[in-house]
Amino acid sequence: YAEDGSRLWLRYTAVDDHTARQRTINLQHSDAITQLAKKELDSYWRGPSVSMHVDRKAAHLKEGYQIKAEKGRIEICAAAPVGLLYGAYHLLRLQHTGADVHSLNVEEIPSYDIRMLNHWDNLDRTVERGYAGYSLWRWNELPGKLSPRYEQYARANASIGINATVLNNVNASPEILTLDYILKVKALADIFRKYGIRVYLSANFSSPKVLGGLVDADPMRKEVKDWWKNKVNEIYRHIPDFGGFLVKANSEGQPGPQDYGRTHADGANMLADALRPHGGTVMWRAFVYNPTQEDRAKQAFQEFVPLDGDFRDNVIIQIKNGPIDFQPREPFTPLFGAMRRTPQMVEFQITQEYLGFSNHLVYLAPLFKETLDADTYCSGAGSTVARVTDGSIWRQKKTAIAAVANIGEDRNWTGHDFAQANWYAYGRLAWNHQLSASAIAEEWIMQTFTDSSGFVKPVRQMMMDSREAAVNYMMPLGLHHIFAFNHHYGPEPWGDIQGGRPDWMPWYYHNADTAGIGFDRTTNGSNAVSQYNEPLRSVFNDRQTCPENLLLWFHHVPWDHQMKNGRTLWAELCNRYDLGVQTVREFQKVWDRLEPFVDKSRFEHVQSKLKIQTKDAVWWRDACLLYFQTFSQLPIPYELERPI
Ligand code: GCU
Repeated sequence: YAEDGSRLWLRYTAVDDHTARQRTINLQHSDAITQLAKKELDSYWRGPSVSMHVDRKAAHLKEGYQIKAEKGRIEICAAAPVGLLYGAYHLLRLQHTGADVHSLNVEEIPSYDIRMLNHWDNLDRTVERGYAGYSLWRWNELPGKLSPRYEQYARANASIGINATVLNNVNASPEILTLDYILKVKALADIFRKYGIRVYLSANFSSPKVLGGLVDADPMRKEVKDWWKNKVNEIYRHIPDFGGFLVKANSEGQPGPQDYGRTHADGANMLADALRPHGGTVMWRAFVYNPTQEDRAKQAFQEFVPLDGDFRDNVIIQIKNGPIDFQPREPFTPLFGAMRRTPQMVEFQITQEYLGFSNHLVYLAPLFKETLDADTYCSGAGSTVARVTDGSIWRQKKTAIAAVANIGEDRNWTGHDFAQANWYAYGRLAWNHQLSASAIAEEWIMQTFTDSSGFVKPVRQMMMDSREAAVNYMMPLGLHHIFAFNHHYGPEPWGDIQGGRPDWMPWYYHNADTAGIGFDRTTNGSNAVSQYNEPLRSVFNDRQTCPENLLLWFHHVPWDHQMKNGRTLWAELCNRYDLGVQTVREFQKVWDRLEPFVDKSRFEHVQSKLKIQTKDAVWWRDACLLYFQTFSQLPIPYELERPI
């Protein structure tokens, strides 16, 4: 292999004949998925003999598995063939992370039924907010020619338990639902099926009008309902295990049921009814906001909570982790837990739209965990976002989790070698939201690079510090959305466009003036705090109790406000920005010392990306501080680096 990062975390080396003769891999089934599980173990497993069987009575395992190692033999048991495949990958993961495989007693049950990637891939192969090259899907060649990367993609996903993929952008082209494209999608679905992955599509709500020539797409009209039913039936004729639709409606200019005076529930239910006979699901997004007088952070809650109970049971409301838009740090969206009779799911963003694209090393598992572990208090203490969405607080027919993929055609799939860790970590948390960010980082490093502790420890630490570093050099203390307009790379807190949408202007979010800085979302301000349950509402509402890492999210704070460490707000802001810069300077040193452990190509790749990251961090710090200083009129503390 020329080292180019293309093998991801799947660096298993084939066993030699001698090793292979020492053990057997037995199975009692001959379906394609079980065969694949056997093939993976036949090729790469160095441990004791393994036997695999499906026990239909073990339904509680869902897609999970049990692994028992006794008397020199390993048994994998699952309720479905795909569980055996996941069990096989579990063994290989243990092998490559140096675990003892001779005494195992493992039971793994996935946290969510549907563990999904959302590709924001357009049909012209550009990727919205994608930073790893063009789309993997070569629509112009499909269905005739099949890139080997389709199968590699499926294998990588199966190895971490991802079982669903939405192939096209949420800003969906209606064309994806033409027969031409359905046949292309079928070709991909046929490859993915063997890896336990179901295909979903983003649907454009206007499709009946655009494709079907109907006068409108009103979800209450029979012709429109019939059009969708027929379309869905057509899809299932070609793709019998089609998963369903993801829909962005009445959001950022996309069409939707409100165009006809109907509700989100009317729109979602029409699609749900068409999918129901086939067992399909609708993921209906709650990412809705308009340029009104109302705080953008409040709008999803306001629109969706009144519809609680109106949705069919095969609809799941897909909610971004934070109320604005995948910022470096946001509180969780208060809609989680606010709809007791409506299934909800989290949407994360793996692609780093707001985190330095594929140039910055930012390990996202701590961000994912922060949301999943956040307590909504919707049903008393301990009602975390994880538990609100995994069916353990309120029963739901199917549970799900989604994240916007960072995958493209680049040789290393994700642009930055370390961005592979974010794909990996998302999959592992979708499988088990109780895993720790640090443990996931460690197993990823050992599989992707080396298990030498001289490498694993410093790299794990760097990864674990990286998200907070980015928060610090971009927008510390609860600042948000002060990005350069539109492309979102780099700072532009001064950005303003005459006549532009106010809710797309940075000043809307930071509100800096001579008195202070921050968005007043307290009861005296937009009152977004009222959407949170007690005790959060009071905690966030009071400047003294509000967590300082969200202070400027909820409060407009005077420059001379005293922080817990005794500094003024201004001094602490300067300190945070500078700390972010110093942390990534340190990452450069850490990485340089690790040169002996890494192949030249990946070493240099990461080294050069860290240079960009450090330059960008300085740019962020200097730009933001010099701009905010025009309001604070205060000096940058002497002990910090001078702006350049
Ligand atoms: C962000 C992103 C858009 C995307 C949107 C969405 O606003 O910038 O490119 O379409 O989120 O999630 O729908």
